[in-house]
Amino acid sequence: MISLLKTYLRPYWKALILVMALLMAQAIANLYLPSLNADIINNGVARGNTAYITSTGSFMLVVTLVLGIVSVIGIYWGSKTAMAFGRDVRGAIFTKVQTFSQKEVNHFGAPSLITRNTNDVQQVQMVLVFALNMILSAPIMAIGGIIMALREDVPLSMIIVVVVPVMAIIVGLIISRAVPLFQVMQKRIDRVNQVVREKLSGIRVIRAFVRTDHEAKRFDVANRDLTQTALTVNRIFALLMPTLTLVLYSSTVAVLWFGGVRVNSGAMPIGNLTAFLTYIMQILLAVMMATIMFVLVPRAAVSAGRIQEVLETEPSVTDPAEPAAPAEGRGTIEFRDVEFRYPGAEEPVLHHISFTSSPGETTAIIGSTGSGKTTLVNLIPRLYDATGGTILMDGVDIRQMRRDDLWQKIGFVPQRAFLFSGTIGSNLRYGNEEADDEMLWHALEVAQSREFVDELAEGLEYPIAQGGTNVSGGQRQRLAIARALVKRPEIYVFDDSFSALDFTTDSRLRAALKNEITYATTIVVAQRVSSIMHADRIIVLERGTVVGMGTHDELMETSPTYREIVFSQMSEEEAA
Ligand SMILES: Nc1ncnc2c1ncn2[C@@H]1O[C@H](COP(=O)(O)OP(=O)(O)O)[C@@H](O)[C@H]1O
Ligand SMILES: [Mg+2]
Repeated sequence: MISLLKTYLRPYWKALILVMALLMAQAIANLYLPSLNADIINNGVARGNTAYITSTGSFMLVVTLVLGIVSVIGIYWGSKTAMAFGRDVRGAIFTKVQTFSQKEVNHFGAPSLITRNTNDVQQVQMVLVFALNMILSAPIMAIGGIIMALREDVPLSMIIVVVVPVMAIIVGLIISRAVPLFQVMQKRIDRVNQVVREKLSGIRVIRAFVRTDHEAKRFDVANRDLTQTALTVNRIFALLMPTLTLVLYSSTVAVLWFGGVRVNSGAMPIGNLTAFLTYIMQILLAVMMATIMFVLVPRAAVSAGRIQEVLETEPSVTDPAEPAAPAEGRGTIEFRDVEFRYPGAEEPVLHHISFTSSPGETTAIIGSTGSGKTTLVNLIPRLYDATGGTILMDGVDIRQMRRDDLWQKIGFVPQRAFLFSGTIGSNLRYGNEEADDEMLWHALEVAQSREFVDELAEGLEYPIAQGGTNVSGGQRQRLAIARALVKRPEIYVFDDSFSALDFTTDSRLRAALKNEITYATTIVVAQRVSSIMHADRIIVLERGTVVGMGTHDELMETSPTYREIVFSQMSEEEAA
């Protein structure tokens, strides 16, 4: 927590010093005012000296006014600093997460990264707001209060010696019970979130399998657990206020009682008694603040730890220290004896993959589900780094290239098409902001989605919902293809991008693509033999190993696995 605060508060040290100075000024004024009040009573009221009352009274008024202004400025700068801190930390987490490869994202899990960037930052920020607005002045108030109280009357100050420990013990006891419960509560909140998340994402499955009651029960249990814990915590805290009030007023009574005796005997002026009352309140309030800090700080420290963990994670896929100059060439991809093992997995999922795909060529990858096709194409944009062998682009190891240069060359259409919230137009321009409408329409035409966009009243301005949920799966896939086309990259990667299309659209799309991207290196993952029959090179994958490579006709001769796939999908005449 300290290092997090140190790093992200450093730019605001001037504001911090200002806030601390203001808090200190505030504390001193607060300590000074009651003694002025005592003077008015002792020297003015008791002796009927109106002039003294007026002059000291107006001075007090001025001090109070200044105090008001000072606290407004202090709170303004304190809050501003705390918010700036939150903003910077969120920005840092976001920037960091952007550098993460799939490996680090999987390690934390997306929901946890989101919680860390929102809730956890907020916890730390809250402590900061609290500290900058009042806590920092608590020690001054407590110590200064004791000194001032001693100045008013020494024997009476004995009360403080008794009351402060009592107060600290009570608050400490209550809080030490509550803190562990806070942790339990955090876990239960997580659980409720988890059930709701699953319920929302799995709603269709739940209904189809008639499990609505089951899910409702699951939620009920999670919800009731949370309520139970929250109730217990609140019951404990319900004790806090009355007990504190009891201590406060008992001390008041004690002060008035013993003070009254001393005033009566003439050992102490009455003004000192009123001042003393104020001081003891200030001291107790300061003690209370300090103890509240003991609740907030451990919680915030946990959050700060979670934030640090993200910030300190080094991405496994990084830019090289001395990137190679972008190679001359038009996007030749070469796999050289590539092996890949998922982090933590025992066995590699890809073994000894070697092939070259040149501009103007189409390389198709076919194989059963789980054979490693997606894994293979994900290595090209370095979503993961190969664990063995090398992947070269135009003769340069892709790990030696700047990632932006690499990505600039690739048009990637993933297995699960993803659209951003915005419009169709903004999504298509994602890889090429300068593209004019004509280019967009052309890409749509090639991707076989011109008709569907034409029919929309808004056309290119048609709004896309978050995640692209307001267009069908096939439409989403075709828009993702159009998006890659608008970018005009040197290498196209289609990971099973035609699977959601019907047969006719699929073949029309392939014909149009063929004319469109004659210049590029194309890598296509497909399930349907008909989609890839005419590829220049077909790679047959089986359990991560290349078991056949060649054209359709060659493979029909040489690869039993390929023949098996072909005959499971088409008749012998079609295959020929
Ligand atoms: N993130 C992952 N972590 C660990 N194993 C994975 C991960 N993704 C896929 N796999 C494993 O890698 C193998 C190949 O998966 P994948 O490349 O998706 O196959 P395909 O695209 O050919 O269906 C599968 O056995 C799968 O279990
Ligand atoms: Mg796949």
